[in-house]
Amino acid sequence: MSEIQGKVDSASRLRRARSLALMAIVAALLMLVSLLAACTGNDDSGTSHETLATMEARRSAVPTSPPSTGSPEASPGGESSPVALPEGNAENGKALATSLGCVACHSTDGSKLTGPSWKGLYGHEVKLADGSTTTADETYIHTAIMDPNKQVVDGFSPIMPNFSAQLDDQKVADLIAYIKSLQ
Ligand code: HEC
Repeated sequence: MSEIQGKVDSASRLRRARSLALMAIVAALLMLVSLLAACTGNDDSGTSHETLATMEARRSAVPTSPPSTGSPEASPGGESSPVALPEGNAENGKALATSLGCVACHSTDGSKLTGPSWKGLYGHEVKLADGSTTTADETYIHTAIMDPNKQVVDGFSPIMPNFSAQLDDQKVADLIAYIKSLQ
C-alpha cells in the first residue's frame, strides 16, 4: 500500500518536475520569441525612423522654399506691414469714401482741401512733417487710414479723424484700391 503510494508520489513528483521543465522551456521560448520580436521591432523602427527622417527632410524642404519666395512680397512692408489684406474693390472704396465722409477733406482731382488730394497719391513720394519722405505704397496708405497721426503729411495739420473702428480689412482694402485707381 505504502509502496504503491510511494510510486504514485514519485510519479506525480516526476510529472510535476516534467511540467515545470516544460514551463521553463515554454518560458524560455517565449522570451526568445519576444526577444526576436523586439529585434525585428527595432529593425522596423529603424527603417521607419529613416522614413520619418526622409519625410521630415522633404517636409522641411517644402516650407523653406515658400518663405524665401514669399518674403520678397512680405518684406517691402517691413515691420509696419499690415496683415495680408483681401482683394480690394475700388467701386466699394469709392462708395465708402463718400459714406464715411473722407471726400469732405480729400479731393480726387488734385485740389487741396483740409487734407491732401488722393489724385496721384499711390506710388508717389510723400513729404512728411518730420522732414522725411516715403513712398505712398499700400502699407503707407493703410497706416494713413488706420493710424492717421503716425505719419503726418508735411504742410497739413494732424486733424484727420481715426476711422479704424468703422473699418475692417475688406473696407481698408477697398479704400486703398480706390485711392490706387486715382492716378
Ligand atoms: C477732417 C478731415 C479728414 C477726413 C474726414 C479724412 N481725412 Fe484723411 N487726412 C486728413 C489730413 C489733414 C491729412 C494729412 C495729415 C495727416 O497725414 O494726418 C490726411 C491724410 C490722409 C492720407 C495720407 C494722404 C497723403 O497724401 O499722404 C490718407 C491716405 C487719408 N488721409 C485717407 C483718408 C480716408 C480713407 C478717410 C475716410 C475714411 C479720410 N482720410 C478722412 C484729413 C481728413
